[in-house]
Amino acid sequence: MQVYGLLGNPVGHSLSPRIHHAAYREFGMDACYATFEPEPSELGTAIEGARALGVRGLNVTIPFKQDAISFVELDELADRIGAVNTIDFGGDRPTGHNTDAVGARRALERHDVALDGARAVLVGAGGAGRAVAFALSDAGATVSIANRTEERAEELATAVPNATGHGLSALNDLLANANVLVNATSVGMEGDESPVPADALHRGLTVMDIVYQPLETRLLRDAAAADATTIDGAWMLLYQAVAAFERWTGQEAPVEVMNDVLRSELT
Ligand code: ATR
Repeated sequence: MQVYGLLGNPVGHSLSPRIHHAAYREFGMDACYATFEPEPSELGTAIEGARALGVRGLNVTIPFKQDAISFVELDELADRIGAVNTIDFGGDRPTGHNTDAVGARRALERHDVALDGARAVLVGAGGAGRAVAFALSDAGATVSIANRTEERAEELATAVPNATGHGLSALNDLLANANVLVNATSVGMEGDESPVPADALHRGLTVMDIVYQPLETRLLRDAAAADATTIDGAWMLLYQAVAAFERWTGQEAPVEVMNDVLRSELT
């Protein structure tokens, strides 16, 4: 049996096992996807142990995405982002990748959003924000990064080509000429709140949220009311899993089957 899994803490509510099992079922693969919660001090032992046991691939989530860097050979994108969410044991040494960035790009592509030459606004400069910032910039967009802690946005902007850093108070101005807006903060997950003023949203803007619980966030409701195009957080979650599956198996993922299962789990 092929074994895949997720390293994180906590991972009990993760939807990843269900998304990946949907793909294994579809292809009749003798494979399983398990969740693991190692002690932080044993992360390296866990990764080395997985390799020794013949595990094919691991996803990595909070709080290990940065720490995992020390135990794998990074590809160029994960190195620039400074975080790993996918480990591939297919080679001589475990390699580290970041499919959050690929997931963001593919989620936007799926909705026919043209990024080359686009003016993108990114809210958030944390771990998820970093991945999305590089994805947008690599695809040819200029990226205005707005973050509650402005210095964090400025620091990220120095690492990302064609990016500038701002505080949240700049959002109205930044959005006036923007084509794409991505929320990479956790705002909207707990309360019915949005990190973006509703009056800054407009027709001609595509708004993607990375929050997927709830699926219809306040931001996306405000965006729909302003006649903007909306892309919910399940799309990035889906496409990071799709990209991990494809890296591990070398096969094109059954995207629609994975999407159906994911959406059946979300409200
Ligand atoms: P993740 O890895 O999920 O991105 P993170 O690194 O903790 O998590 O980053 C969370 C992001 O959400 C940050 O951009 C954070 O802003 P700060 O850098 O100022 O902390 C943002 N965030 C969290 N709560 C917020 C709130 N109530 N209002 C605005 N931004 C918030």
